[in-house]
Amino acid sequence: MKAVVYTRYGDPDVLHLTDVPAPLPGEREILIRVRAAEATKSDCELRAFRFSVKWFWLPLRIAVGIRRPRRHILGGYFAGEVVSVGGRVTRFAAGDPVYGSAGLGLGGYGEYVVVPESAAIVPKPRNMTFAEAAAVPLGGLNALHFMRRAGIAPGERVLINGAGGSIGLHAVQIARSMGAHVTAVDHAIKEELLRRLGADDFVDYTSVDVTSTGRRFDVVFDMVAGSSHRRLLGMLDPGGRYLSGNPRLSVLLRGLTSRSVIVTFAPESREDLADLAEMIEAGAVRPIVDRVYPMAEAAEAHRRVETEQRLGAIVIAIGDPE
Ligand SMILES: NC(=O)c1ccc[n+]([C@@H]2O[C@H](COP(=O)([O-])OP(=O)(O)OC[C@H]3O[C@@H](n4cnc5c(N)ncnc54)[C@H](OP(=O)(O)O)[C@@H]3O)[C@@H](O)[C@H]2O)c1
Repeated sequence: MKAVVYTRYGDPDVLHLTDVPAPLPGEREILIRVRAAEATKSDCELRAFRFSVKWFWLPLRIAVGIRRPRRHILGGYFAGEVVSVGGRVTRFAAGDPVYGSAGLGLGGYGEYVVVPESAAIVPKPRNMTFAEAAAVPLGGLNALHFMRRAGIAPGERVLINGAGGSIGLHAVQIARSMGAHVTAVDHAIKEELLRRLGADDFVDYTSVDVTSTGRRFDVVFDMVAGSSHRRLLGMLDPGGRYLSGNPRLSVLLRGLTSRSVIVTFAPESREDLADLAEMIEAGAVRPIVDRVYPMAEAAEAHRRVETEQRLGAIVIAIGDPE
């Protein structure tokens, strides 16, 4: 099969298109023909092995490969069709259109991927293309998990820092669907898109420091590595909650003792993916795709993720993404 592979850590040019053996499903596994995969910030961070949260570095390097990556095909989030299933699989059948997460095994940048039947994979929402569906699992699963953990009540004021990224774009829509008043913080080029998706208020971080505006919030969801959590915490009203998608060690420690700091990681459950599919079919959430790149231009796709000029997800077409 064709796959975009990398055999050493480095800049986007370490990605190249080549032929590799197709995987075979075991008894409790499913073989999926991938049609589209999101090129995520996390894929770029893994490719370059460059992470903004430093405590993460050593355990992750040991897990993914000390000198070079142990797994050569990136791509955690994808959409495609089931090709065949192992003898003990009951939830899927050949031909099912599906979307979801490949988990720690990755592999979505290859024409075929094998995942356990228990993986966070569910039927693809009916009203979307494979490219659009591939843009949902990373942002949607994380945003849904964090917004639910925040326990948002209708009318609460929610600040989303880094709202224009893959996770933030979903968080804005989900917080709105929970009845929140949403303030989005990101680069000015994303204002129009964020307002269209439901943000009530917008702050351009390149010209205004939101923490010095005097605004008060019930929930702050912070996706920006290196932000000042102390200043963001200072914007909370009594009973307010601060959640970080990129917790530094100091935030992790604060989470152990403070009720207002919620430290959590999205477990990526099938139930949450199915809930997202329902929200999409009901029109409450919609995925935003900036551009779709062919496999041969995967390096360009990563460059576009890293230069941050995108409005929405960057998707790699692994087959026909329609
Ligand atoms: N906790 C978890 O379970 C989990 C899961 C997945 C990912 N993550 C991490 O969470 C982070 C966000 O993920 P993502 O995929 O949504 O990333 P992303 O798509 O790169 O989004 C980040 C957004 O933040 C904006 N931004 C940058 N600096 C900012 C600042 N100072 N103030 C406000 N906004 C700013 C960026 O805009 P610009 O265009 O201006 O740069 C971009 O729109 C990544 O670092 C990722 O590794 C965490």
